[in-house]
Parts: sequence; C-alpha cells; structure tokens
Amino acid sequence: MSHDMEACNATLREFERLIEERRNNPWTGPLRTGVDLGTANIVLAVVDGENRPVAGATYPSTVVRDGVVVDYMGAVRTVTRLKAQLEDQLGTALDAAGCAIPPGVMSGSVKAIGNVVEAAGFRLTSTVDEPTAAASVLGIADGAVVDVGGGTTGISILKDGRVVFVDDEPTGGTHMTLVLAGFHGCDTQEAERMKRDPAQEHSVFPVIKPVVEKMAAIVKRCLAEHPVDTVYVVGGACCFTEFEAVFQKYLGIPVVKPAAPLLATPLGIAMNCTN
Ligand SMILES: Nc1ncnc2c1ncn2[C@@H]1O[C@H](COP(=O)(O)OP(=O)(O)OP(=O)(O)O)[C@@H](O)[C@H]1O
Ligand SMILES: [Mg+2]
Repeated sequence: MSHDMEACNATLREFERLIEERRNNPWTGPLRTGVDLGTANIVLAVVDGENRPVAGATYPSTVVRDGVVVDYMGAVRTVTRLKAQLEDQLGTALDAAGCAIPPGVMSGSVKAIGNVVEAAGFRLTSTVDEPTAAASVLGIADGAVVDVGGGTTGISILKDGRVVFVDDEPTGGTHMTLVLAGFHGCDTQEAERMKRDPAQEHSVFPVIKPVVEKMAAIVKRCLAEHPVDTVYVVGGACCFTEFEAVFQKYLGIPVVKPAAPLLATPLGIAMNCTN
C-alpha cells in the first residue's frame, strides 16, 4: 500500500480513546470541530491547528435519517449538549465548525444540516461531502470509499483526490438488525444489542452475511463502470471482524478497513474544517 495506514489507525484509535475516556489531548493553534449528523449517531470531533484529535463526543441519534433532518429541534438539542460537554471538558469555547453531506442528498437537506450546526452556536465555516472527509483521514487520493452507516451504503470513487462518482443505496446496519430480529423472532432493540455484542459475533455474522453480500453487490455494480485498485470500508455497520473478507471475496480486489471505522468520517469532517 502506498500510504501509511498505520498512522491513520493510530490516529483513529487515539480519537476513540479520547471519546471513551472523556479526555482531551493538549493542543496547539485554533480548535475546529467536525459535526457528523448520522442516522444512528451524532458525533462531534475536535482537532487542533495540526489536525491532531483533541477531544470528541458521541450520542445515539434518531433525529436524522439518511442525511435528512427529520427532527430539527432534537438535532439542535443534541449538538448543543455535546458542544457544552466538550467545552466544559476543554475549558474553552468552541467556535469554528464544519459539517458534511452524504452522497446524493438534496440541496434543501444540505441547508438543514448547516442550520443545525449554526443553531447549536457554532460558526459554520465549511461543508464537505462525507467520502472526502473519510478519504482525508485515510490519507488516500484514489480508490473507492464505502461508508456503511445505519440507513444506507454510500459509495464514492476518488481519482487524484477528487470525487468522480457517488451512489447511496438504502442498505445499512438497520437492515442487518431487521434480518437478525426476523431470524430470532425478537424485537429490533434486542437484535441491535445482539448485533453489537462481540461475544455473539460468531452466531450473528452468518445470519447477517447476506446483507453484507447485498452491500458488496451494490459496490460491485458501481466498480464495473469505475474500476479501482482498493476499496476502503468505513461506518458502523462494517465493524464485524469478517466484514472485509466477505467484501474482498465478492469484489476480488483488496478491501481495507481502518481502526474505529465508525469514527473516520466524523474525524475527517473536523480535519476539513477551515477556521
Ligand atoms: N460493533 C458494532 N457491530 C456491528 N454494527 C455496529 C456496531 N456498532 C455500530 N454498529 C451499527 O452501525 C450503524 C451506525 O453506523 P454509523 O454511525 O456509521 O451510521 P450513521 O452515520 O449514523 O448513519 P448514516 O451514515 O446511514 O446516516 C448502526 O446500524 C449500528 O447498529
Ligand atoms: Mg454516516
């Protein structure tokens, strides 16, 4: 591999620890915040002048669905609260923030996402598309970035640092949960819990594997017209140990998953935020 995946993984693991331990790193230069409004999670990432992770906070969300803000006040409340939590922890105010738009979202929704960030008290300085955000954390200029989130699988193809193709299809982690609930005859809350329990992964994965293959089929269709050397998977629904092996077998090209794939897009949004 041409770039340094080790450094990328170290940064993501570091960011994950900061969130878990509610701790912050020392920083130099002005702080910038990335706000990721996802279908399943709202994540705030704070980086410093050298793009090093400084702090982060996350909260489960139902206020956004596939890039569309369905509960505006709820979204503002959660972002306001996470901002206050981080400011308290850092002992300083957060000002500049960036947000991101998922591939294929309408312009009206883009405005709503920015409005949430501003209504929470941030100065919105930049809007980036999600795959570009993830690509800057991965340190890549070429390849396919596949973001498997809660509601959708987003595919973005990069050539020479530019996004040349995007697609977003409604198959994500939620669908894995539904399949699991159907299989066991339990409710989706119970299925969601099972799905995220590492101790149950060996029995969960075979049940949800067809959903992973469906995702791979979506990606394969896109790659037929835009071939790449490597596929990078990010997002919460690719957390399973065997996920990338299934993808790789289906696609026949190398599939790379970074550490803490849930956090690649949020951290990248912060890194792309100007002051
Ligand atoms: N450890 C885990 N194992 C399996 N799935 C997980 C795990 N952790 C989270 N997920 C799943 O990942 C999904 C959320 O991923 P992510 O936070 O990337 O989505 P999002 O950005 O909120 O949604 P979207 O991008 O679709 O708007 C959920 O379906 C959740 O169940
Ligand atoms: Mg997402």
